[in-house]
Amino acid sequence: MQPLLLLLAFLLCLRAEAGKIIGGHEAIPHSRPYMAFLQIKTLFEKITCGGFLVREDFVLTAAHCRGSSMKIILGAHNIKKRESSQQVIPVKRAIPHPDYQLKKAHLNDIMLLQLKKKAKLSDKVSLLRLPTKTAKVTPGMVCSVAGWGSTGVKKTTVKLHEVEVKIQTDQECTLYFRSYYNESIHICVGDKNINKSSSQGDSGGPLVCNDVAQGIVSFAKEDGTPPRVYTKISSFMRWIEETMRSFKLQGPD
Ligand SMILES: *[C@@H]1O[C@H](CO)[C@@H](O)[C@H](O)[C@H]1NC(C)=O
Ligand SMILES: *[C@@H]1O[C@H](CO)[C@@H](O)[C@H](O)[C@H]1NC(C)=O
Repeated sequence: MQPLLLLLAFLLCLRAEAGKIIGGHEAIPHSRPYMAFLQIKTLFEKITCGGFLVREDFVLTAAHCRGSSMKIILGAHNIKKRESSQQVIPVKRAIPHPDYQLKKAHLNDIMLLQLKKKAKLSDKVSLLRLPTKTAKVTPGMVCSVAGWGSTGVKKTTVKLHEVEVKIQTDQECTLYFRSYYNESIHICVGDKNINKSSSQGDSGGPLVCNDVAQGIVSFAKEDGTPPRVYTKISSFMRWIEETMRSFKLQGPD
């Protein structure tokens, strides 16, 4: 089968996240200075994703956001405006997890993007802390997710929105997603009984718990109902650290 057909077959049952934040509200401008807006060109279309700055020259996002050409906007609130705080930086190198495969897009959906030049850190552009390898989120914990949520086809949200979401038990997602859910690399998020909790940011955006990035928006059921599945960052810390270490922080540009 052609890769496109495989992708379409996959998307029939699971949908990579792209919807806007639902039930949330506009974020206080620049209250999440680690947020990155990703503009992506793929073979077929232009898409957008979320991501977050984890080193001056690295953004973390979902692997299914990969495109042939990618540009990152840091320091943004309204992505349709040219705000003076914005830094627009092309991607030098996209590094999806080596075990990520398009036809199994629900597995290892994590990607590092090396920036062409270092971001200038300020009160509007800063890093988000990554978890330790042994970090755990527990059911009932309240975290938050943010995103611009615009897609090529749907209505766009030009200002950053955010919403609080609750961590669910692994059983909840196993029931819902069957073998697509793997508790060692996934986090189950969003109460199925609360519309607000079903809200979600763009693909690639961070699930933030106590100021630490614990998850990456990955996939949900086709109809978008919660719970939804996030990539569990702590399970990939070794890969993240090794990859970033292999690309030393460059000196001043
Ligand atoms: C879940 O993911 C882990 C880590 O990638 C893997 O070792 C394990 O085999 C997976 N489990 C299932 C049931 O696929
Ligand atoms: C959630 O929102 C959708 C669409 O806005 C609505 O159709 C549905 O009835 C709501 N469900 C609950 C439980 O509030």
